[in-house]
Amino acid sequence: MTDIALIVNGENKTVSVPPETTLLKMLRENLNYTGSKLGCDVGDCGACTVLVDGLAVNACLILAAQAEGKEVLTIEGLSTLEKYHPIQKAFEDVAALQCGFCGPGMIMATKALIDQDQDLTKQEIKDALSGNLCRCTGYTKIIEGVVDAYQEITGKKIPATKPRVA
Ligand code: FES
Ligand code: FES
Repeated sequence: MTDIALIVNGENKTVSVPPETTLLKMLRENLNYTGSKLGCDVGDCGACTVLVDGLAVNACLILAAQAEGKEVLTIEGLSTLEKYHPIQKAFEDVAALQCGFCGPGMIMATKALIDQDQDLTKQEIKDALSGNLCRCTGYTKIIEGVVDAYQEITGKKIPATKPRVA
């Protein structure tokens, strides 16, 4: 067993797990943060996306031990039931999700993207979220929700097209 000390959603945690345990497995099975979903378990679907020191990672692809000493943020740390995060509110307002399975990963990937504070086009948002798969929606409403959240949080407007550089 390996002892791992880390911060999850602002709380100090120490967990003892077998060394081959993934971060996702530890979050779900040892710490009961089941918001991060187990989809493909091989890095293809993004359902397990969490933030590690502010960067979006597929929690199924890294070992829990690699999160030693780091700050992990899961969907549970984003808001309370009484107060949604603006990304969750934007998704709700446009009915971005259907079954919701992809939602936690999609929302965490969106948070990492918006936190970078870059000027983004709609196409760049689509590209940035291309690693997060949704089997239900066709993505149109999800991208609409991400655009709304981006504009709400940053105060920036998404340009219709990016100006061409001569
Ligand atoms: S469960 Fe991690 S990428 Fe699919
Ligand atoms: S809403 Fe069902 S997988 Fe995205």
